[in-house]
Amino acid sequence: MALNAENQPADPPPPPAKPLIVVMGVSGVGKTTVARLLADRLGLPYAEADDFHPAANIAKMTAGIPLDDQDRGPWLAALGDWLGECGRAGTGGVVTCSALKRRYRDQLRAACPDAYFLHLSGGHGLVEHRIAARTGHFMPASLLDSQYALLEPLQPDERGAVLDVGPAPHQLVEKAVALLRPVNGDLA
Ligand SMILES: Nc1ncnc2c1ncn2[C@@H]1O[C@H](COP(=O)(O)OP(=O)(O)O)[C@@H](O)[C@H]1O
Ligand SMILES: [Mg+2]
Repeated sequence: MALNAENQPADPPPPPAKPLIVVMGVSGVGKTTVARLLADRLGLPYAEADDFHPAANIAKMTAGIPLDDQDRGPWLAALGDWLGECGRAGTGGVVTCSALKRRYRDQLRAACPDAYFLHLSGGHGLVEHRIAARTGHFMPASLLDSQYALLEPLQPDERGAVLDVGPAPHQLVEKAVALLRPVNGDLA
């Protein structure tokens, strides 16, 4: 048994923190697909960014009016709170969020400093093809162009990694687990 300086049994070391993952990238790149599988694989709670919009944003989007950064403030705050709470509760968590701009990621990090950004990255042609094949979702091609125009890649000081979305979803999940292992050593 480990003893401390007073020869008393030492407190057991705290269990390694569970990961707090934001699956980011342009619309149609595979965030929902990969995040769900990753959350299942790691036994972590899962959330979708779209579910955190306040009613005013939903009304705007329903009317076809694009959101501006002011609209995004309360949405990112709610999303960050969810992930931060997962951190405080020790459950870990996975959330999808396009998080295209550094500023948005900064806001999420302010609420959850340990957030790890998994950037799903794919070429325009591949993503366009996948969107066209996706059922139950309508997305005009011009929206995809604007997503690529907004995208600010992860910078060297940001915790996270880029994952190319060429392979099948299950392979991407295993690659993600391999990327996370050095940061969260307890991953199975
Ligand atoms: N790695 C992949 N390989 C092949 N198809 C994929 C892959 N990831 C996602 N898809 C498909 O691409 C489409 C868009 O994925 P989705 O998860 O909805 O993207 P997002 O949540 O980023 O908008 C879906 O029809 C999905 O089944
Ligand atoms: Mg999605």
